[in-house]
Amino acid sequence: MTGIVIAIDGPAGTGKSTVSREVARRLGLAYFDTGATYRVATLACLREGVDFTVTSDVAAMVATMNVELVLDPANPRILLDDEDVSALIRTDTVALTVSKVATNLEARPILQQMQRDVIAAEVEGGRSGGKGVVVEGRDITTVIAPEADVRILMTADDEVRVARRAGEGADVATVREAVLGRDKKDATVVSFHEAADGVLTLDTTDLTIEEAVQAVLERAAEASA
Ligand code: DC
Repeated sequence: MTGIVIAIDGPAGTGKSTVSREVARRLGLAYFDTGATYRVATLACLREGVDFTVTSDVAAMVATMNVELVLDPANPRILLDDEDVSALIRTDTVALTVSKVATNLEARPILQQMQRDVIAAEVEGGRSGGKGVVVEGRDITTVIAPEADVRILMTADDEVRVARRAGEGADVATVREAVLGRDKKDATVVSFHEAADGVLTLDTTDLTIEEAVQAVLERAAEASA
């Protein structure tokens, strides 16, 4: 027996991260936010002054950066050169730049391979002891782990998504660009607005976090039965 993989895709503001973390916590699984790998790569490039228009320079940085992930759903962290940069990767500067890495077709495969390796380690052992992992992102159900036991696409109305993010404290215009503008750029390389075959769409527009958590847990229970 190997561990369970729960793959959750969707755009920002759908409740994806909160729900993924909570599901991982309740099931004793690892929690892997793949967006953090794109964000940390962006931070590494910004720090080293890498020119984002030179795709091979970005890819070289991504291939050599020293990153460590802590897949604890109660306290997920990411380290760059042994420094905890979990808060720094959430700044507006990174949020508004990250699409340059996410749409870089030389850098993307390197991060994707890193992600597959992390998932493989968790289903065999890792911090979950082989129980498995909840993985969230944009291309997990389709590209990274199409064989996942549970595959869910979380969606929500655009305005609801912007309002949820703005509710977290930031300025609305910046949030609108960070959420909707970024979706548009990201959608040029990954498709995450429509569910692929076998992927359940979970529209969270009118759901509480708890209701969304329950919906994912039901799927996980079915998959383990
Ligand atoms: O989920 P997030 O906002 O932290 O994602 C950060 C960026 O990375 C966003 O621009 C989308 C991109 N991303 C991606 O292309 N593929 C993933 N699996 C996860 C994130």
